[in-house]
Amino acid sequence: MELPYAEPYKIKVIESIRRSTFLEREKWIKDSGYNLFKLRSDQVFIDLLTDSGTGAMSDEQWSEIMKGDESYAGSESYFKLFDAVNGLLGMPCFLPAHQGRAAENVLFSALIKAGDIIPGNSHFDTTKGHIEFRKATAIDCTIDEAFDTSSFHPFKGNVDLQKLEDIFKKYPKERIPLCIITITCNTSGGQPVSLKNIKAVSELCKKYGIRLFFDAARFAENSYFIKKREEEYKDVCIRDIVKEMFSYVDGATMSSKKDAIVNIGGFIALREKELYDKTIVYSILYEGYLTYGGMAGRDMAALAQGLREGTDFHYLESRIEQVAYLSRKLKEFNIPVQEPAGGHAVFVDARRFLSILPKEQFRAQTLAIELYKEGGVRGVEIGTLLADRDPETRKNRYPKLELLRLAIPRRVYTNNHMDYVATCLANIYERRNEITTGYKIVKEAPIMRHFTVELEKI
Ligand code: F0G
Repeated sequence: MELPYAEPYKIKVIESIRRSTFLEREKWIKDSGYNLFKLRSDQVFIDLLTDSGTGAMSDEQWSEIMKGDESYAGSESYFKLFDAVNGLLGMPCFLPAHQGRAAENVLFSALIKAGDIIPGNSHFDTTKGHIEFRKATAIDCTIDEAFDTSSFHPFKGNVDLQKLEDIFKKYPKERIPLCIITITCNTSGGQPVSLKNIKAVSELCKKYGIRLFFDAARFAENSYFIKKREEEYKDVCIRDIVKEMFSYVDGATMSSKKDAIVNIGGFIALREKELYDKTIVYSILYEGYLTYGGMAGRDMAALAQGLREGTDFHYLESRIEQVAYLSRKLKEFNIPVQEPAGGHAVFVDARRFLSILPKEQFRAQTLAIELYKEGGVRGVEIGTLLADRDPETRKNRYPKLELLRLAIPRRVYTNNHMDYVATCLANIYERRNEITTGYKIVKEAPIMRHFTVELEKI
């Protein structure tokens, strides 16, 4: 008999989570202005809000925490991290930052000015926020297949080369300071980018003299998909795939809270010394001295270890197969999900799930609220609320996809938890035709409204 799959780790420490009643949850979510970000964590049973900073660190990482060197300058932990990043990515210049958006802030301060154009594959919301805050424009060049949730494409994060070249032809290169590939592409469903595509984008960028960067938050998961889905790489190890991916770019911003399995941290990796010299000014201004950049020494040490663990094939297999497991369970109940499953999350297609609801009433948010009320499961809307208003016209932007994201923290939940989540959604799916009204906004911030927005039931 073939042996079944089992995780390559065992559990040493546990944290209790509490179930609540439907009536309690109904009150809590109403008191939170129907915004799941405003719930207290003890009001949540299974928290799939994000996979960011929510992973379980290993015994090796906790040992590194004890060994952290808190020297202001020249900390040992910094050099550990530098060696880990340099060894893995092959990038000679490196700046720590306290998280991904801080890395974006520092790098973009050195690169982006008003009126600039930054093409890429569905930029993440903080990336777009930092671009638009500088009065520049992010242009989405993702392949069209990404926006059809029911079609199978192995690399739905890929950049459409024609769309990208059209941008390069339309605008002078002085207005395009960089092109960003997000690996994996969070906004389009945690979907990977193929090495073939990365290489082709890199060639195109070189031809037009434009810098290419990764938003590398989930670079290891992207490498796993390359190994699994790109024939030429099936026998190449994860770390060699990582090296090759990074060989095609000029640098990267990283949110270490994802694939490096730490609770806080980030960094910038750069190839050019000249750009590094320009960037350090902003690093010191916004984050801190060059050898800590907003991080504690212990956190840098744990991050260095996390980078090693996060690029281990057996770990990645357990991680990504758990996400695929939840996706399969949902499909067994006929629930429409983005196909294939992403690396860090399952994305439920709220447009198809709640098709009778008008798009103005926030379908994905409505589904997120229903899921919370049903079983205390917290997901997050990746749809109209997140897409925000057009900075010029202030009209709501209706994105091509209206998704409920169920992000799975790393090494935290078991497949029993996944079964629970799937059953909650199946119950809602059964009564979906009774959900005929959604929500309206009563209060919102001028930018990144989804974090603080307050809603009212229609
Ligand atoms: N880039 C991507 C692709 C991300 O997914 C995130 C964060 C960031 C940048 C910003 O990093 O949070 O460390 O400042 N994504 C989280 C999420 C918040 O839930 O997907 P950060």
